[in-house]
Amino acid sequence: MGKQPPIKSAVIPAAGLGTRFLPATKAIPKEMLPVVDKPAIQYVVEEAYSAGFSDVLLITGHNKGALVDHFLQAPELEQTLHARGDVGRLRALRELNKLPELHTVRQESARGLGDAVLTAAEHVGDAPFAVLLGDDLIEPSEILWQQMLEIYNEFGGSVLALMEVSDSDVSKYGIAQLSSTTPLRVTDLVEKPEKEKAPSNLAIIGRYILSPEIFSVLRHTSAGKGGEVQLTDAIATLARDERIGGPVHAVIADVRRFDTGDRLSYLKTVVEFATRREDLGREFTEWLKGFTRGLHD
Ligand code: UTP
Repeated sequence: MGKQPPIKSAVIPAAGLGTRFLPATKAIPKEMLPVVDKPAIQYVVEEAYSAGFSDVLLITGHNKGALVDHFLQAPELEQTLHARGDVGRLRALRELNKLPELHTVRQESARGLGDAVLTAAEHVGDAPFAVLLGDDLIEPSEILWQQMLEIYNEFGGSVLALMEVSDSDVSKYGIAQLSSTTPLRVTDLVEKPEKEKAPSNLAIIGRYILSPEIFSVLRHTSAGKGGEVQLTDAIATLARDERIGGPVHAVIADVRRFDTGDRLSYLKTVVEFATRREDLGREFTEWLKGFTRGLHD
C-alpha cells in the first residue's frame, strides 16, 4: 500500500470501424469527426496531456492516415495563414504543435477494444497505464483524473470511471458489480447485460487506469459479446481475483460524457459545444432558438 510508480503512458484506442456512422467513417475514423472545428480525438489527446500523461499512444486502424496527419506539423498551411495575417487560425493550428509527439501503433483488424488495448503491450511494457477512448469526451476531466490517480496511488491495481445510466441503457455498456467499501471496489463486470441480468446501473465510461497484468489476461481472453475481444471481460478477470493484478476500484464520475460515435449523441455534442463558444455561441444560440420555435409552429 502507499506510493505507486507514476503513470506515464496513456493509450487512446481509435481503431474501431465506426459502423454506426457510415458512410462518413468509410475513409476517416470516427475520432476525426469535428466537434465544431476540432476533431474529437484532439480533445481526448489534450485531456491526456493535461492529466499529466507524458507518453501518449494512439491505436489506429485501417484508415489511420487522417488521424496521424492531424497531429503532424503543416508548414505550408502555417506559411499561408501567416502570409494572410490570419492570426486566429494560425494560433489554433500552432496549439497542435505544442502537444508532445504522439506515438502510434496499428491494430491489424478491428477485433474489439480488448484487442486494441493489447496492441499497446510492447509500447507500455510492465507499467500501469491510462486508457482514454478516442470517441468519448468527458467534462470536466481534471477532477476525475485526480480522483482516479489518488486511488491508484494509495492502492495500486486498476481504477475505472463509472456513471449511472438508466435501466433501458444498461445493455449498451459494461456494467459493474461493486462492494460497498470506500473506495468502491469492483467485484465483477458484465459487458452489455440484459436489463434483468445487470448487477447495477453503473456503467463503465471511457476512462481507465489499468495494471499491466491486463495484457496477459487479454492474451487469454476469447471473443465475447459481438464476437469481439472485450476489455470489460479482461478487467472482470482482474476484479474477481486481486492476486492477478491488484484490486480494481471505481470512481463514480461526476462528469458529463459526450459519445461522439453515436449519431444522435454526436449531434447533441456539436450543438452544445457550439453554443458555448465565445466566437460563435451567441449568434448560433440566437439562430437555434428561432429554429426550434419554428419547429413548434
Ligand atoms: P466502439 O464500440 O464505440 O467503436 O468502441 P466501434 O466498434 O468503432 O463502433 P461501431 O459500433 O462500429 O459504430 C469504443 C472505442 O474503442 C475503439 C473505438 O475506436 C472507440 O474509440 N476500438 C473499438 C478499437 O480501437 N478497436 C476495436 O477493434 C474496437
